[in-house]
Amino acid sequence: MGFPVLPGLEAPLRRFEEALSGLVQSDVLFIRLIHQDLVTAGGKRIRPRLVFLASRALGGAPFELELALAVELLHSATLLHDDLIDDAETRRGKEAAFRKYGNAVSVLSGDFLLSRLLHVIAKTGRMELVERFAEVAKTLSEGEVLQFQVAALEEYSLENYERIITAKTAALMALCTEGPALLRGEPPEIREALHRFGLLYGQAFQMRDDYLDLMGTPEVLGKPVGGDLREGKATLIPLLLMERFPEVREILRRKGREPGDLERLRALARESGVVEEVEARIRKRAQEAASALSPLPPSPFKGALEELALREAERLS
Ligand code: IPE
Ligand code: IPE
Ligand code: MG
Ligand code: MG
Repeated sequence: MGFPVLPGLEAPLRRFEEALSGLVQSDVLFIRLIHQDLVTAGGKRIRPRLVFLASRALGGAPFELELALAVELLHSATLLHDDLIDDAETRRGKEAAFRKYGNAVSVLSGDFLLSRLLHVIAKTGRMELVERFAEVAKTLSEGEVLQFQVAALEEYSLENYERIITAKTAALMALCTEGPALLRGEPPEIREALHRFGLLYGQAFQMRDDYLDLMGTPEVLGKPVGGDLREGKATLIPLLLMERFPEVREILRRKGREPGDLERLRALARESGVVEEVEARIRKRAQEAASALSPLPPSPFKGALEELALREAERLS
Protein backbone atom coordinates (compact mmCIF):
# COMPACT_ATOMS: atom_id res chain seq x y z
CA MET A 1 0.00 0.00 0.00
CA GLY A 2 1.56 3.28 -1.08
CA PHE A 3 1.40 6.47 0.89
CA PRO A 4 -1.35 8.96 0.13
CA VAL A 5 -0.07 11.88 -1.93
CA LEU A 6 0.22 14.71 0.53
CA PRO A 7 -0.17 18.33 -0.51
CA GLY A 8 2.97 20.14 -1.60
CA LEU A 9 5.42 17.50 -0.41
CA GLU A 10 6.86 16.37 -3.75
CA ALA A 11 9.44 19.15 -4.01
CA PRO A 12 10.76 19.00 -0.42
CA LEU A 13 10.89 15.19 -0.55
CA ARG A 14 12.84 15.34 -3.80
CA ARG A 15 15.33 17.77 -2.26
CA PHE A 16 15.48 15.49 0.76
CA GLU A 17 16.40 12.43 -1.37
CA GLU A 18 19.12 14.36 -3.19
CA ALA A 19 20.62 15.70 0.02
CA LEU A 20 20.45 12.27 1.68
CA SER A 21 22.29 10.60 -1.20
CA GLY A 22 24.96 13.28 -0.94
CA LEU A 23 25.36 12.80 2.80
CA VAL A 24 26.01 9.05 2.63
CA GLN A 25 28.77 9.29 0.03
CA SER A 26 32.09 7.85 1.05
CA ASP A 27 35.36 6.78 -0.55
CA VAL A 28 34.86 3.38 1.08
CA LEU A 29 33.02 0.98 -1.23
CA PHE A 30 31.32 -1.09 1.51
CA ILE A 31 29.85 2.03 3.10
CA ARG A 32 28.52 3.15 -0.26
CA LEU A 33 27.01 -0.26 -0.98
CA ILE A 34 25.27 -0.59 2.39
CA HIS A 35 23.79 2.85 2.11
CA GLN A 36 22.67 2.31 -1.45
CA ASP A 37 20.51 -0.55 -0.16
CA LEU A 38 19.29 0.99 3.05
CA VAL A 39 19.22 4.71 2.56
CA THR A 40 18.70 5.29 -1.13
CA ALA A 41 16.60 2.19 -1.90
CA GLY A 42 13.37 3.10 -0.19
CA GLY A 43 11.68 3.07 3.13
CA LYS A 44 8.45 4.86 3.72
CA ARG A 45 10.16 8.14 4.73
CA ILE A 46 7.51 8.71 7.36
CA ARG A 47 9.77 10.70 9.64
CA PRO A 48 10.83 13.30 7.04
CA ARG A 49 7.18 13.53 5.97
CA LEU A 50 6.22 14.32 9.55
CA VAL A 51 8.86 17.04 9.65
CA PHE A 52 7.73 18.67 6.39
CA LEU A 53 4.05 18.46 7.27
CA ALA A 54 4.51 19.86 10.78
CA SER A 55 6.73 22.61 9.43
CA ARG A 56 4.22 23.60 6.75
CA ALA A 57 1.28 23.38 9.16
CA LEU A 58 3.04 26.21 11.01
CA GLY A 59 3.84 28.22 7.88
CA GLY A 60 7.40 26.87 7.34
CA ALA A 61 10.33 26.38 9.69
CA PRO A 62 14.03 27.22 9.32
CA PHE A 63 16.25 24.17 8.83
CA GLU A 64 13.33 21.86 8.03
CA LEU A 65 15.49 19.99 5.49
CA GLU A 66 18.29 19.50 8.03
CA LEU A 67 15.81 18.25 10.61
CA ALA A 68 14.25 15.84 8.08
CA LEU A 69 17.70 14.51 7.15
CA ALA A 70 18.76 14.14 10.76
CA VAL A 71 15.69 12.12 11.83
CA GLU A 72 15.98 9.77 8.85
CA LEU A 73 19.72 9.30 9.46
CA LEU A 74 19.08 8.41 13.11
CA HIS A 75 16.26 6.07 12.09
CA SER A 76 18.35 4.34 9.41
CA ALA A 77 21.29 3.91 11.78
CA THR A 78 19.00 2.24 14.33
CA LEU A 79 17.67 -0.09 11.61
CA LEU A 80 21.19 -1.25 10.72
CA HIS A 81 21.83 -2.02 14.37
CA ASP A 82 18.31 -3.37 14.99
CA ASP A 83 18.45 -5.97 12.20
CA LEU A 84 21.64 -7.42 13.57
CA ILE A 85 20.22 -7.46 17.09
CA ASP A 86 16.94 -9.01 15.88
CA ASP A 87 18.67 -11.42 13.47
CA ALA A 88 16.33 -10.20 10.70
CA GLU A 89 16.33 -11.71 7.21
CA THR A 90 15.32 -8.70 5.14
CA ARG A 91 14.93 -4.95 5.36
CA ARG A 92 13.10 -2.72 2.90
CA GLY A 93 12.60 -5.74 0.67
CA LYS A 94 16.31 -6.60 0.48
CA GLU A 95 18.61 -8.93 2.34
CA ALA A 96 19.52 -7.35 5.71
CA ALA A 97 22.90 -5.58 5.49
CA PHE A 98 24.68 -7.63 8.16
CA ARG A 99 23.93 -10.82 6.20
CA LYS A 100 25.70 -9.47 3.12
CA TYR A 101 28.56 -7.50 4.64
CA GLY A 102 28.97 -9.00 8.10
CA ASN A 103 28.22 -7.76 11.60
CA ALA A 104 31.20 -5.43 11.95
CA VAL A 105 30.64 -3.56 8.68
CA SER A 106 26.94 -3.24 9.42
CA VAL A 107 27.42 -1.78 12.92
CA LEU A 108 30.18 0.54 11.75
CA SER A 109 28.06 1.76 8.85
CA GLY A 110 25.31 2.56 11.36
CA ASP A 111 27.90 4.59 13.26
CA PHE A 112 28.83 6.31 10.00
CA LEU A 113 25.20 7.42 9.65
CA LEU A 114 25.27 8.78 13.21
CA SER A 115 28.36 10.79 12.32
CA ARG A 116 26.48 12.28 9.35
CA LEU A 117 23.61 13.15 11.67
CA LEU A 118 26.00 15.05 13.95
CA HIS A 119 27.33 16.89 10.92
CA VAL A 120 23.84 17.93 9.80
CA ILE A 121 22.61 19.21 13.14
CA ALA A 122 25.89 20.92 13.97
CA LYS A 123 25.55 22.86 10.71
CA THR A 124 22.27 24.38 11.90
CA GLY A 125 24.07 25.97 14.85
CA ARG A 126 20.92 25.39 16.92
CA MET A 127 21.98 24.09 20.31
CA GLU A 128 18.45 23.15 21.37
CA LEU A 129 18.28 20.75 18.41
CA VAL A 130 21.55 19.09 19.43
CA GLU A 131 20.16 18.68 22.95
CA ARG A 132 16.92 17.15 21.66
CA PHE A 133 18.76 14.64 19.49
CA ALA A 134 21.02 13.67 22.38
CA GLU A 135 17.95 13.09 24.54
CA VAL A 136 16.10 11.06 21.90
CA ALA A 137 19.15 8.91 21.14
CA LYS A 138 19.45 8.12 24.86
CA THR A 139 15.74 7.28 25.13
CA LEU A 140 15.90 5.11 22.03
CA SER A 141 18.80 3.03 23.36
CA GLU A 142 17.05 2.66 26.71
CA GLY A 143 13.89 1.45 24.95
CA GLU A 144 15.79 -1.17 22.97
CA VAL A 145 17.57 -2.45 26.08
CA LEU A 146 14.39 -2.40 28.17
CA GLN A 147 12.75 -4.60 25.55
CA PHE A 148 15.42 -7.25 26.07
CA GLN A 149 15.27 -6.89 29.84
CA VAL A 150 11.50 -7.43 29.81
CA ALA A 151 11.93 -10.56 27.67
CA ALA A 152 14.78 -11.93 29.77
CA LEU A 153 13.10 -11.31 33.14
CA GLU A 154 9.61 -12.08 31.81
CA GLU A 155 8.38 -8.70 33.03
CA TYR A 156 5.39 -8.95 30.69
CA SER A 157 2.92 -6.13 31.26
CA LEU A 158 0.98 -3.55 29.27
CA GLU A 159 2.76 -0.85 31.24
CA ASN A 160 6.19 -2.08 30.14
CA TYR A 161 4.91 -2.43 26.59
CA GLU A 162 3.87 1.24 26.59
CA ARG A 163 7.26 2.26 27.98
CA ILE A 164 9.07 0.32 25.25
CA ILE A 165 7.09 1.62 22.28
CA THR A 166 7.25 5.17 23.57
CA ALA A 167 11.00 5.05 24.05
CA LYS A 168 12.13 3.13 21.00
CA THR A 169 9.79 4.63 18.40
CA ALA A 170 7.47 7.41 19.59
CA ALA A 171 10.14 9.68 21.09
CA LEU A 172 11.77 10.15 17.68
CA MET A 173 8.40 10.74 16.00
CA ALA A 174 7.68 13.41 18.64
CA LEU A 175 10.94 15.15 17.74
CA CYS A 176 9.93 15.05 14.06
CA THR A 177 6.74 16.97 14.74
CA GLU A 178 7.84 19.19 17.62
CA GLY A 179 11.17 20.07 15.95
CA PRO A 180 9.73 22.57 13.46
CA ALA A 181 7.84 24.35 16.28
CA LEU A 182 11.07 24.48 18.28
CA LEU A 183 13.00 25.90 15.34
CA ARG A 184 10.34 28.56 14.76
CA GLY A 185 10.20 29.53 18.44
CA GLU A 186 6.50 28.69 18.74
CA PRO A 187 4.76 29.12 22.13
CA PRO A 188 4.59 26.11 24.50
CA GLU A 189 0.97 25.32 23.60
CA ILE A 190 1.88 24.67 19.96
CA ARG A 191 5.12 22.87 20.80
CA GLU A 192 3.30 20.60 23.23
CA ALA A 193 0.45 19.88 20.80
CA LEU A 194 2.93 18.75 18.13
CA HIS A 195 5.00 16.79 20.64
CA ARG A 196 1.89 15.01 21.85
CA PHE A 197 0.78 14.26 18.30
CA GLY A 198 4.15 12.69 17.46
CA LEU A 199 4.19 10.65 20.63
CA LEU A 200 0.66 9.25 20.17
CA TYR A 201 1.19 8.70 16.46
CA GLY A 202 4.47 6.92 17.14
CA GLN A 203 2.79 4.67 19.68
CA ALA A 204 0.02 3.79 17.22
CA PHE A 205 2.68 3.21 14.55
CA GLN A 206 4.69 0.77 16.67
CA MET A 207 1.48 -0.98 17.80
CA ARG A 208 0.64 -1.50 14.14
CA ASP A 209 4.20 -2.63 13.34
CA ASP A 210 3.94 -5.20 16.12
CA TYR A 211 0.52 -6.30 14.91
CA LEU A 212 1.91 -6.80 11.40
CA ASP A 213 4.92 -8.72 12.72
CA LEU A 214 2.45 -11.36 13.86
CA MET A 215 -0.46 -11.06 11.46
CA GLY A 216 1.10 -9.50 8.33
CA THR A 217 2.47 -10.77 5.01
CA PRO A 218 6.27 -10.62 4.55
CA GLU A 219 6.01 -9.93 0.80
CA VAL A 220 3.85 -6.87 1.43
CA LEU A 221 5.87 -5.73 4.45
CA GLY A 222 9.32 -6.00 2.88
CA LYS A 223 10.57 -7.54 6.13
CA PRO A 224 9.95 -10.89 7.82
CA VAL A 225 7.12 -11.77 10.17
CA GLY A 226 7.31 -13.71 13.42
CA GLY A 227 10.58 -12.07 14.42
CA ASP A 228 9.23 -10.56 17.63
CA LEU A 229 8.08 -13.97 18.86
CA ARG A 230 11.47 -15.47 18.02
CA GLU A 231 13.02 -12.80 20.27
CA GLY A 232 10.50 -13.48 23.05
CA LYS A 233 9.10 -9.92 22.73
CA ALA A 234 5.76 -9.53 24.46
CA THR A 235 3.95 -7.25 22.02
CA LEU A 236 0.31 -6.22 22.30
CA ILE A 237 -1.36 -9.32 20.83
CA PRO A 238 0.45 -11.89 23.02
CA LEU A 239 0.07 -9.62 26.05
CA LEU A 240 -3.71 -9.47 25.66
CA LEU A 241 -3.90 -13.18 24.84
CA MET A 242 -1.87 -14.03 27.92
CA GLU A 243 -4.60 -12.67 30.19
CA ARG A 244 -6.98 -15.30 28.78
CA PHE A 245 -4.77 -18.21 27.69
CA PRO A 246 -1.95 -19.25 30.05
CA GLU A 247 -0.33 -21.28 27.25
CA VAL A 248 0.63 -18.00 25.53
CA ARG A 249 3.07 -17.20 28.34
CA GLU A 250 4.70 -20.58 27.69
CA ILE A 251 4.90 -19.95 23.95
CA LEU A 252 6.60 -16.62 24.62
CA ARG A 253 8.94 -18.12 27.20
CA ARG A 254 10.17 -20.70 24.70
CA LYS A 255 10.33 -17.96 22.02
CA GLY A 256 7.94 -19.82 19.74
CA ARG A 257 10.48 -22.56 19.11
CA GLU A 258 8.02 -25.45 18.94
CA PRO A 259 6.48 -26.21 15.55
CA GLY A 260 3.09 -24.55 15.16
CA ASP A 261 3.66 -21.93 17.90
CA LEU A 262 3.35 -18.95 15.56
CA GLU A 263 0.27 -20.43 13.88
CA ARG A 264 -1.28 -21.11 17.29
CA LEU A 265 -0.79 -17.49 18.37
CA ARG A 266 -2.30 -16.27 15.12
CA ALA A 267 -5.30 -18.57 15.44
CA LEU A 268 -5.89 -17.59 19.08
CA ALA A 269 -5.68 -13.92 18.15
CA ARG A 270 -8.24 -14.34 15.37
CA GLU A 271 -10.64 -16.59 17.26
CA SER A 272 -10.61 -14.72 20.57
CA GLY A 273 -11.36 -11.31 19.06
CA VAL A 274 -7.96 -9.95 20.17
CA VAL A 275 -7.22 -8.93 16.57
CA GLU A 276 -10.26 -6.61 16.63
CA GLU A 277 -9.36 -5.40 20.10
CA VAL A 278 -5.85 -4.43 19.00
CA GLU A 279 -7.21 -2.72 15.90
CA ALA A 280 -9.60 -0.75 18.11
CA ARG A 281 -6.74 0.25 20.44
CA ILE A 282 -4.65 1.44 17.49
CA ARG A 283 -7.61 3.38 16.09
CA LYS A 284 -8.21 5.03 19.47
CA ARG A 285 -4.55 6.02 19.82
CA ALA A 286 -4.55 7.45 16.30
CA GLN A 287 -7.70 9.45 17.05
CA GLU A 288 -6.08 10.82 20.20
CA ALA A 289 -3.10 11.83 18.07
CA ALA A 290 -5.35 13.64 15.60
CA SER A 291 -7.22 15.44 18.41
CA ALA A 292 -3.93 16.61 19.92
CA LEU A 293 -3.52 18.91 16.92
CA SER A 294 -6.57 21.03 17.85
CA PRO A 295 -4.50 24.11 18.89
CA LEU A 296 -3.09 24.34 15.34
CA PRO A 297 -4.91 26.47 12.74
CA PRO A 298 -6.73 24.49 10.05
CA SER A 299 -4.65 23.76 6.93
CA PRO A 300 -4.20 20.98 4.37
CA PHE A 301 -0.96 20.05 6.18
CA LYS A 302 -2.67 19.65 9.51
CA GLY A 303 -5.31 17.57 7.70
CA ALA A 304 -2.58 15.40 6.18
CA LEU A 305 -1.04 14.78 9.61
CA GLU A 306 -4.44 13.72 10.96
CA GLU A 307 -4.96 11.45 7.95
CA LEU A 308 -1.52 9.89 8.36
CA ALA A 309 -2.36 9.01 11.96
CA LEU A 310 -5.84 7.67 11.22
CA ARG A 311 -4.60 5.28 8.55
CA GLU A 312 -2.47 3.38 11.09
CA ALA A 313 -5.47 1.24 11.97
CA GLU A 314 -5.47 -0.15 8.41
CA ARG A 315 -1.82 0.04 7.35
CA LEU A 316 -0.55 -3.20 5.74
CA SER A 317 3.06 -2.28 4.96
C1 IPE B 1 10.67 0.49 11.18
O1 IPE B 1 10.26 1.77 10.83
C2 IPE B 1 11.08 0.52 12.62
C3 IPE B 1 9.98 0.81 13.52
C4 IPE B 1 9.99 1.84 14.31
C5 IPE B 1 8.85 -0.10 13.58
P1 IPE B 1 9.58 2.08 9.43
O2 IPE B 1 8.42 1.14 9.25
O3 IPE B 1 9.30 3.52 9.35
O4 IPE B 1 10.71 1.67 8.41
P2 IPE B 1 11.00 2.20 6.94
O5 IPE B 1 11.80 3.46 7.11
O6 IPE B 1 9.71 2.45 6.24
O7 IPE B 1 11.80 1.11 6.31
C1 IPE C 1 11.64 -0.85 16.07
O1 IPE C 1 11.24 -2.07 16.46
C2 IPE C 1 13.13 -0.75 16.19
C3 IPE C 1 13.67 0.58 16.33
C4 IPE C 1 13.04 1.62 16.76
C5 IPE C 1 15.07 0.70 15.97
P1 IPE C 1 11.21 -3.35 15.55
O2 IPE C 1 12.36 -4.24 15.84
O3 IPE C 1 9.83 -3.91 15.69
O4 IPE C 1 11.37 -2.80 14.08
P2 IPE C 1 11.31 -3.73 12.78
O5 IPE C 1 10.02 -4.48 12.88
O6 IPE C 1 12.51 -4.59 12.83
O7 IPE C 1 11.31 -2.77 11.62
MG1 MG D 1 13.54 -5.34 14.43
MG1 MG E 1 8.74 -4.82 14.20
